[in-house]
Amino acid sequence: MDSQPEADLIAAARAAAGHSYSPYSHFAVGAALLFADGRVITGTNVENASYGLALCAETVAVAKAMADGVRGGLEAIAVTGPGTEPITPCGRCRQVLNELAQLGGTDPVVLCVGPDEVKRTRLSALLPDAFGPASLG
Ligand code: THU
Repeated sequence: MDSQPEADLIAAARAAAGHSYSPYSHFAVGAALLFADGRVITGTNVENASYGLALCAETVAVAKAMADGVRGGLEAIAVTGPGTEPITPCGRCRQVLNELAQLGGTDPVVLCVGPDEVKRTRLSALLPDAFGPASLG
């Protein structure tokens, strides 16, 4: 991926983390999704007094995209957390991201963003042999 779109996507994920509602974990996460038409849709984690109901940043971003009618063209994902190391999307988020990716037939780049380091991978590497819409026949 080109350096400017990558830098913009990382900046969007970091900005989204600034809106995190995480009073229980104090672990602010931001996610940003880049689509083929250039659109960027962000998400942040949204926790709940009933702790187990927390929504992850990536899942919120996918839900926002779906709610806006976006069904494909997912080209890249950036995710960032508060620690000193890059974080990777949790297992549930990998599955949720895969749904949107498979709808458009893409294998998005995943940027795992730390304060000083960006790990680059692909969703297919994080979720090999994924179960998705095509699996239902
Ligand atoms: N979290 C995310 O938002 N994304 C992930 O991929 C991992 C975890 C959130 C959930 C919870 O609000 C906090 O981080 C601590 O687990």
